[in-house]
Amino acid sequence: MKKIILSIFVLSLLLLISCGGGNSNNDSTTKNANSFVGGNNDPVKDIGIGPIKSIPLGVIDTVIAAKGKEAFKINCSACHKINKRYIGPAMLGITERRSPEWIMNMIMNPEVMLAENNVAKALLAEYLAPMANQNIKEVDARSILEYFRVKDNSK
Ligand code: HEC
Repeated sequence: MKKIILSIFVLSLLLLISCGGGNSNNDSTTKNANSFVGGNNDPVKDIGIGPIKSIPLGVIDTVIAAKGKEAFKINCSACHKINKRYIGPAMLGITERRSPEWIMNMIMNPEVMLAENNVAKALLAEYLAPMANQNIKEVDARSILEYFRVKDNSK
């Protein structure tokens, strides 16, 4: 047990040293990529790139959300969990950090999003694995969005 604690300590020390010394250019790039507060880079206002231009949200539809839960299980759960980071980010809170249009464009048009959208590019830099395009239809992407709304609403 002592050995484990010691190696964790040594590891974190090494990490600290390697992070501290870094080249300052790199540091500022990382910071910029992750700070989207305000202006055009506000991720909640960013609609992303893809077929979805406007998704007005009404009252949550639990029937559609139930379909979304199934679609999520089939198409997304290999890489995403609701509550924790997996191959990709945890989905909980997604409707608070991204616009509905961005979420659906990410589902339907991930290659272009990962190549051209700043928020998605920063995610790829962090998660390294590219999200797969599975030819999800608009109606299914919409139902998955509804499922996320239910999850975020009952947080
Ligand atoms: C092959 C693995 C994989 C599959 C399958 C997959 N994703 Fe992803 N997803 C990722 C990864 C990895 C990221 C982070 C960006 C990147 O590296 O591509 C991501 C990012 C996302 C994001 C943005 C998360 C954020 O915090 O902004 C959303 C939303 C998303 N995925 C939804 C879905 C949905 C819905 C499905 C199913 C239709 C799905 N993904 C299927 C791997 C996957």
